[in-house]
Amino acid sequence: MTDTASIEVGFIGFGNMAQAMAQGLVSSGALEGAHIHACAAHFDKLQATAEKLGVNAHRDAREVVEASDFVILAVKPYLVEQVVQPVRDLLADKAVISVAAGCDFAFYENILAPNSRHLSTIPNTPIAVGAGVVACEQRHSLSDEELQAFENLFGQIALIEWVDGKLLSTASSVAGCGPAFAAMFLEALGDAGVKHGLPRATAYRLAAQMMMGTAKLHLETGTHPGAMKDAVCSPGGTTIKGVAALEKDGFRGTVIDAIDAIEGE
Ligand SMILES: NC(=O)c1ccc[n+]([C@@H]2O[C@H](COP(=O)([O-])OP(=O)(O)OC[C@H]3O[C@@H](n4cnc5c(N)ncnc54)[C@H](OP(=O)(O)O)[C@@H]3O)[C@@H](O)[C@H]2O)c1
Repeated sequence: MTDTASIEVGFIGFGNMAQAMAQGLVSSGALEGAHIHACAAHFDKLQATAEKLGVNAHRDAREVVEASDFVILAVKPYLVEQVVQPVRDLLADKAVISVAAGCDFAFYENILAPNSRHLSTIPNTPIAVGAGVVACEQRHSLSDEELQAFENLFGQIALIEWVDGKLLSTASSVAGCGPAFAAMFLEALGDAGVKHGLPRATAYRLAAQMMMGTAKLHLETGTHPGAMKDAVCSPGGTTIKGVAALEKDGFRGTVIDAIDAIEGE
């Protein structure tokens, strides 16, 4: 399994998240579609999406598990137990990767066969363009070789971040739900640009590249976000006026409220 390009990856459920992962693997060249297997509830729909990526469409979960080294459980959380049940024994011989929100190590210990090897994760949709996050629960039962292969393969298209099980849902709120908030900020900046005369497409491109560059600057230099903000604010200048307006309208508190709302506080 050390040669990641020959790993067989199977998806049980091939909706938004699974397609984003498959798209990321194929587009980046990390894995050819021929090494990816998928099943879903509606075979005709699956065939159409699988064909676009050159992925193998299978009629049921058993076929996917048999063809795969890694089996990614990518159905809605309430369906996980139901889809695992018929292939429970077959899964005992595979590396099982969960992407289902709220399904942690303890959950899988209850529903998988004894001594199964599994890892609970939360990816996000930017993985489709090789710029994702996969938050992983520190407690897992993959073998060392499987873990290495998982990191080598998905590390090509995502930042792999390990967190304690009780923080997986918060990691999911920040990185999994975050693309929706970032997209709202992008849209809002675009609207502001349009309000002041920029063509909409130009405004979105400017805002998107700015957001990507700011994130990259932080990731590559480790500079504190506050210091990055200060670096743009000259005394008496224009940027600090915008910062003050955002603070007056409760920008940070509103963002924190959004995460509190997800976490149920
Ligand atoms: N979307 C995100 O940003 C995101 C982020 C992090 C984690 N997740 C997790 O990813 C998982 C999937 O979410 P999603 O957004 O991709 O959902 P989705 O788009 O609704 O996809 C669900 C998939 O499950 C398939 N399915 C339903 N019943 C099935 C069955 N009995 N056997 C096999 N496949 C079945 C569906 O098939 P049909 O299409 O044929 O109906 C569909 O392909 C969830 O557990 C979620 O918590 C999602």
